[in-house]
Amino acid sequence: MLFEVNHVCKYFPTGGNTLSGSKEVVKAVDDVSFVVYEGETLGIVGESGSGKTTIGRTMIRLNDPTSGEILFEGRPIQDLTRKQMRPLRKEMQIIFQDPYSSLDPRMTVGQLIQEPLDIQGDLPLEERKARVHYFMEICGLEPHYINRYPHEFSGGQRQRIGIARSLALRPKFVVCDEAVSALDVSIQSQIMNLLIYLQEVENLTYVFISHNLNVVYHMSDRIMVMYHGKVVELADREELYFHPLHPYTKLLLRSIPNVEHEGIKERHVDYHVPLPDGYVLDDDQKACALHEVKPGHFVFCKKL
Ligand SMILES: Nc1ncnc2c1ncn2[C@@H]1O[C@H](COP(=O)(O)OP(=O)(O)OP(=O)(O)O)[C@@H](O)[C@H]1O
Ligand SMILES: [Mg+2]
Repeated sequence: MLFEVNHVCKYFPTGGNTLSGSKEVVKAVDDVSFVVYEGETLGIVGESGSGKTTIGRTMIRLNDPTSGEILFEGRPIQDLTRKQMRPLRKEMQIIFQDPYSSLDPRMTVGQLIQEPLDIQGDLPLEERKARVHYFMEICGLEPHYINRYPHEFSGGQRQRIGIARSLALRPKFVVCDEAVSALDVSIQSQIMNLLIYLQEVENLTYVFISHNLNVVYHMSDRIMVMYHGKVVELADREELYFHPLHPYTKLLLRSIPNVEHEGIKERHVDYHVPLPDGYVLDDDQKACALHEVKPGHFVFCKKL
């Protein structure tokens, strides 16, 4: 197990006050628990504002959790200071939707990929250079691009640069946050295949966030569905897609555009599987929790 997330909450102040005078908050992530196994891809889906980015950022401590526990390789990291986190930083990286905004336009491709290695500062220059060449190659960037600038590239190639930069430190864990969402469909599949290839050669574990269910299905071993800051369902991808149990997951599946993709639509999604005996859905959120209703299949519901 690489990560264990136990009852994590992340509330943001809204700046307002409630009638009783306490501070108003947005419960971006609200009592969420799950694990991430080494080498897997855990997909996260859910509508805009459901908390996907917040949980991804909180796991790698780009956000401080409001409460709860985050274990990385068995070690609690939720209370580590910035300084204590520093040696762990290189183990955890994030790939963004729009690499362009995170790539300094005045730096060359070579400088951009090398910069995290320079900051980390524990590798001799020769090795840093060798690493830049290696990651350019495995990310499909031609060697002569090394002295070019980000604006000279297409969106897909810029994403390759962003990926090479994120992976140069050889992290164990990568959050891919809408990493292909801004790309054309044909480029999307190239970048997805690149991420799958890199996962194999670099032994990576991914949390793969997307609002696009087809993309998440393609990428993931297991899928977690978020709704209003809660995990409402979590299961192996086939189980989640073909035997969904939570009404919100069913709604998401029904809303997939009717295009053939990965055979999802031509196979039969069974929308009528009942919850196993002893579990019921309930509108009262307080009565509900994430229960393992079948082996490996978790649903936000009430246990009788
Ligand atoms: N830094 C912040 N300050 C205040 N509120 C925030 C902050 N970051 C996120 N939120 C709020 O937390 C909630 C969850 O946001 P989050 O970005 O995690 O959602 P998301 O599922 O990633 O959405 P999207 O699909 O649009 O990327 C939203 O209501 C958002 O407005
Ligand atoms: Mg987001």
